[in-house]
Amino acid sequence: MMSELLTVVLAAGKGTRMKSDTNKVLHKVAGKEMVNHVIDTADKISSKVICIVGHQADDVKENITADVSFELQSEQLGTGHAVMQARNEIENHSGDVLILYADIPLIKENTLRNMRKFHDDQSANLTIMTTLLKNSTGYGRIIKNENSEIIKIVEEDDATFKEKKIKEINSGIMCINSNSLIKALDDLDNDNAQDEYYLTDVVDTVRDEKGKILSYQIDDEEEITGVNDRVNLSKAEKTIRERINKEHMMNGVTIIDPLTTYIDENVEIGADTIIYPFTYIEGETKIGSHNIIKPHNHIINTKIGDHNNIKNSNVIKESTIKNECNIGPFAHIRPGCIIADGVKIGDYVEIKKADIKEKAKVPHLAYVGDAEIGSQTNVGAGTIFANYDGENKHKTIIGNSVFIGSNSTLVAPLNIKNRGKTGAGAVVTRDVEEDTTVIGVPAREYIENKDG
Ligand code: UD1
Ligand code: MG
Repeated sequence: MMSELLTVVLAAGKGTRMKSDTNKVLHKVAGKEMVNHVIDTADKISSKVICIVGHQADDVKENITADVSFELQSEQLGTGHAVMQARNEIENHSGDVLILYADIPLIKENTLRNMRKFHDDQSANLTIMTTLLKNSTGYGRIIKNENSEIIKIVEEDDATFKEKKIKEINSGIMCINSNSLIKALDDLDNDNAQDEYYLTDVVDTVRDEKGKILSYQIDDEEEITGVNDRVNLSKAEKTIRERINKEHMMNGVTIIDPLTTYIDENVEIGADTIIYPFTYIEGETKIGSHNIIKPHNHIINTKIGDHNNIKNSNVIKESTIKNECNIGPFAHIRPGCIIADGVKIGDYVEIKKADIKEKAKVPHLAYVGDAEIGSQTNVGAGTIFANYDGENKHKTIIGNSVFIGSNSTLVAPLNIKNRGKTGAGAVVTRDVEEDTTVIGVPAREYIENKDG
């Protein structure tokens, strides 16, 4: 049995190289803040996670979704100094401590698990995750002796010309037993080019104490990309998107062009759904199976059932689309819509907070806001639901099998009951009874003259 794992995530730094008003670790990768990527991964393997916050501490704390405890590093004097802020917790913990930087969002749960196991199997005091990079600029270089043992880590700014040529780099991820860490933290100084307390200098103390230091070298360098500037950020974004798309494809989703398909981490998609290029699917969206999603759709926090045909270029937000619907092209479905089975929402239709029942149709050029539309009802081209009187929003309720003539204006609050009809161009200001037709401006009941 492995001991309990305490994880310390460092998120206090200024992130100067991002040149941003937003804290570096709050920049998003695939729709999720970097720090949340790291913490959510850590949370799966740790008994406790401590997050070190400092620069813009309140912003960072507010945005962390998992249940972690915080320590404040009020002055950012380096990564070693950041870990010192958790000294008490580390001292009270017997066993392994994992240290992660919040700017390494792509690290995988399994890689951390394997490293931890390696550390324990080898009874190491300190294990450092490393990789070989063609271009190691900017990273701490791993210095080894002739027996391939790590003897120190040298930061870019402190490295000699020769050391800069070393290709093995420090990922920033380490596993260390708590006793070794406490001793090493007490030994740290800031005698270096940046006058910072470097966490990487813990190597010196562990080595002086004759502790066992190992490198855990991984092949997938993308996994440990450190995000320090916006160029790194875009690379991390690309990598994580590729990972997400691949997983959906392995689960039976067709993605015609993964390079132009952007799917957030928590999105679920059923098998045999086909996604055309230039589609952006965000947030907590859930999409069923056998849907066709044509090019240029932007879908946000929405639930979509099965067998829907989502044609080109729609924006669909915070709504529910059930099954076998036809949507678009060029529809704007705003928050709060519930679209039942077999509904058609056609070209250039905007709908908001609308409950649209089975097989109703809004096929062309309409605005539908704050409404209920009954089953089999047809809303003609150019119809406007006038839901706003300048102060308040009002509701329009339309029954089943109603026929709304083209270019009708429905002035809310309004009820149009089952099988009611409005003539083309009607401005409807009063309720319409069942089986009744209204026409004109303002609309009045139309009684057909049967005698001709
Ligand atoms: C660090 C490592 C370097 C490694 C690289 C991997 C050190 C000294 N250097 O360099 O060896 O190759 O990561 O990406 O550790 N932070 C704090 N408080 C501070 C300073 C930083 O919490 O006072 C946090 C930052 O928010 C960040 C993390 O620590 O999440 C790393 O800091 P950063 O400045 O990015 O270190 P690097 O220069 O990338
Ligand atoms: Mg960094």
